[in-house]
Formats: sequence, C-alpha cells, structure tokens
Amino acid sequence: MDFSLNCKSSRLFGFHLTSLACKCLVLVAIFLVFRTVCMPSISGYGGVSVEETKIDLIQSQSLDLDSDYGIRRDKFLQVPQIAWGLNNQKIAFARACLTARLLNRTLLMPSLSASLFYKEIDLLQPISFDKVFQFEKFNSLCKGFVQLGRYLDVSNRSRVFEVHKGSGRRWTIERDLDQLREAREKPLTDEFEVVRIVGKNPFLWHDHWPVKDYARVLECLVLVDEFTKEADKVVSRIREGMDSDGSSLKQVPYVAVHMRIEIDWMIHCKKLEQRSKISEICSSKEEIMERVGNIEGLKTPSIVYLAVADKLLGNSSILSGWKEGLVPFEKKKLGVDGIYKKYPYLIQSAIDYEVCLRADVFVGNSFSTFSSLIVLERTQKMIRTGMANSCGRNVMWPSYAYNILGESNGPKRWMTNMSDSSLQAISYGSNAISCSTS
Ligand SMILES: *[C@@H]1O[C@H](CO)[C@@H](O)[C@H](O)[C@H]1NC(C)=O
Ligand SMILES: *[C@@H]1O[C@H](CO)[C@@H](O)[C@H](O)[C@H]1NC(C)=O
Ligand SMILES: *[C@@H]1O[C@H](CO)[C@@H](O)[C@H](O)[C@H]1NC(C)=O
Ligand SMILES: *[C@@H]1O[C@H](CO)[C@@H](O)[C@H](O)[C@H]1NC(C)=O
Repeated sequence: MDFSLNCKSSRLFGFHLTSLACKCLVLVAIFLVFRTVCMPSISGYGGVSVEETKIDLIQSQSLDLDSDYGIRRDKFLQVPQIAWGLNNQKIAFARACLTARLLNRTLLMPSLSASLFYKEIDLLQPISFDKVFQFEKFNSLCKGFVQLGRYLDVSNRSRVFEVHKGSGRRWTIERDLDQLREAREKPLTDEFEVVRIVGKNPFLWHDHWPVKDYARVLECLVLVDEFTKEADKVVSRIREGMDSDGSSLKQVPYVAVHMRIEIDWMIHCKKLEQRSKISEICSSKEEIMERVGNIEGLKTPSIVYLAVADKLLGNSSILSGWKEGLVPFEKKKLGVDGIYKKYPYLIQSAIDYEVCLRADVFVGNSFSTFSSLIVLERTQKMIRTGMANSCGRNVMWPSYAYNILGESNGPKRWMTNMSDSSLQAISYGSNAISCSTS
C-alpha cells in the first residue's frame, strides 16, 4: 500500500498544526466530549476479556439490542474524503462510523472516491456515498448503532470544531486511544454542532474496534438499485453459463474464485513471504486450479466464476486446466464485460464484490483484503442464520483460502474470527483463518 498521499491530503484539507495552543485546545475538547459517552466497544479495551466478547457475540446473533442506546441526531461528525480501493474505502467508512458512534454523533455522509489514483488526489473523483449505497437502508439496518446524516441536516455550518488527528510514528495507537479516553471525560465540543476531523483518510486512523463492530457496519451497506440490478444480471449470466459444447447448464451452483495471479500481486506476495517468513501466501494458477478441484463435496457440473484483474481477461491460460466438470468463466467469456465498462473503478469493484458475496462457494486468498472482507460478510450471514459450527460441511456460503492447504489437497475452510479484537488481521492479510485443520 502506498501511503505517500499523506502530505497531499494534509494540504488539501488545509490541515496545519500551527501552535501548541491549538493542539491543547483540541486535546481538551476531545477529552471533554467523551465524558457522557460510555461505550461497550471502548470499554472492551479496558479489560473485557476475549472470552466475554465471544460470549457476547454468540448471545447477540440477532442484533445487539442491549447496546442500542441510539445516536444523537443533532450533533455531527465530518470526515475527509474516503479514498483508494473498494476495500480500503469500506474499512475507512466503517472506521468513520465507529468514531462517530464513539463521539455519539451522526456521521455526515462522506464522499467516497470513484477512481483509483493513489497519488493524484485531484483525480480521485469524489462520489457521494448515496450514489453507491442506499442511504435510508443503511440507517434502518444500522439503527441505534451508527447513524448517517446529510449536510442539509446541519442548521449552522459556520461553527465547526476541528479535531486534528495526530500522525507519524510517535502518534501511537495508545496515544490515539488516550486522546479518546481523555475526551470521553469532558464534553466541551458539545456546544459545536459539527466536529470535523482533519488530516488523513480514515483508513489510516488508528483502529480501536473489534471485528464484530466492523461486521455490524458492513452488513448495513446495500448497493443502490442500479448496481444491484447489474450484479443480478451478472449472477444470472453465470448461473446460466454455457459449457464448451454449447449445452446449457441451467441454474447450476457457482464457485467464485478471487484469483490473484497477476504480475504485480505475484511480486508483492513474494516479497511478503520473504519479509514475514510465511510460505503460504502466493499460489500459482496451477495450485489454485488443483485445490479448487479438490474441494470435497463440490457438485459437478459447477460454474467457476473467476474474479481476476482486467489484464487477465481473455487470457486463455486461466480458462484451461480446470478439473472435469468445473466450467470456468470470467467477465469477458460471459459477455458481461460491457456491463462493467460503463462504470468507474469503484462501481466495477463493488459489482464484482457482490457477485463473489452471493456465490454458493467462495475461494479467495487469505492475504487479500478483498477476499477477507467477502469472507467476513459471508461469515456474518452464516451467523445471522444461526449456523452453529460454520466450519463444518454442508453449511451455506462456505468459503475457502486457496493459499492454505486443507483437507484432501483442497483449499482450507475459511471463516472470519468474529471475536478477534481488531481488524488488523484482515486488513493487512493473515493466514489465521479460524477453521482448524482437524
Ligand atoms: C448518545 O446520547 C444520547 C443522549 O444524550 C444518549 O441517550 C445515548 O445513550 C448516547 N448513545 C451512546 C451510544 O452513547
Ligand atoms: C451561525 O453561527 C454563527 C457563529 O456563531 C453566527 O454568527 C451566525 O449568525 C449563525 N447563523 C445562523 C443562520 O444562525
Ligand atoms: C496470460 O497470463 C499469464 C499469467 O497467468 C501470462 O504469463 C501471459 O503472458 C498472459 N498472456 C497474455 C496473452 O496476456
Ligand atoms: C479468535 O480470536 C480470539 C482472539 O484473538 C482467539 O483467542 C481465539 O482463539 C480465536 N479463535 C479461533 C477459532 O481462531
């Protein structure tokens, strides 16, 4: 990940830590706002054990009503434009929501970024949240937990309290949390209708929330109808996929494989393997094909939908070599690449994400954030349906990691550990995939 955006974004948001006085004021203010706020997710850091969190998760399979105190609708939090890949934007958005919840404020609907430019901030093409995700739906699904507001709801925009997030190596997670803890004590910012966080993109903020809080926010994100319909079209094309003889395979199950074999990834993952001394990060095309073919109990024929980088579309080498009965398709072979081409990067990515989310079986790389977020949401769906041992066979929406060897030379079963205390493992890659080998 390229974080060289920092200083540019700082300039963009006119953020300068000018004087000590200013810093003090900010600290005092944040300190004050938290006094009345007493949140379960923060108290989790004050010594609530992992076991308790786990029990909490099990007991709260249907919404966490006990912690449903509601969020103030007359106080707002404003955050910088959210940028970079779809996954980074989702995580950043959730982090902004959880920060707003901590401050007991409604999050002013942030701008996302339609394009994927890491360095040129002018080219990020801001796109309003509600152009991508349903606004009302979000608020109804996340009611009482987090709340989104519109700029129109703010009665007087001329008085804004600015909060400067620290940065650099000395701004540690502990300092960030201390700032919040102090702030929890005294409500000085309370007289300000809007608190604006200036500085870097929320993806770069320190993380203080357990995985289940992220899951709670992410499941409230529903694509707007226009894009849901596009995903419907792609999914129905997949399910009606034709085999090579031209005979139609009606409504067969499909396996979505997030196949990361493009050169950039291969270079990145080889470096990662060296640096982290973990050998199971990179998988070759052949290894992926073999392991997917060895998934136990996979019905054939099955369609295999390959979610691959655009540069691999139309490359015949990814379409051959699959086990008998597995019929591979990518966008181009399905004839749906036209659907994607209409849209900017963010939307293309969101449609592909939806297609993988709905697959009967999903197989991804445990070091990919895209794969990890899909598995997180699939795990959350399983939990909502009351599935007890979700690592077992015959569950709905099973997921696998092809980079880790599982039973019978297949990929390893994968589900998100919802009792993990931070998103770190899934935002930056991990081979802790929670289902044990036995
Ligand atoms: C937010 O503030 C309201 C009113 O002061 C209070 O009733 C509610 O419990 C608070 N919510 C949270 C999540 O702290
Ligand atoms: C908004 O707040 C500013 C500063 O307190 C004040 O001068 C101004 O009159 C207010 N505007 C409205 C429309 O209330
Ligand atoms: C097809 O993809 C492989 C990697 O899987 C690559 O080595 C090859 O150059 C690609 N072929 C074309 C025509 O792009
Ligand atoms: C899930 O995460 C918790 C906290 O890190 C850990 O104690 C537990 O062993 C993990 N469970 C599995 C199945 O990996």
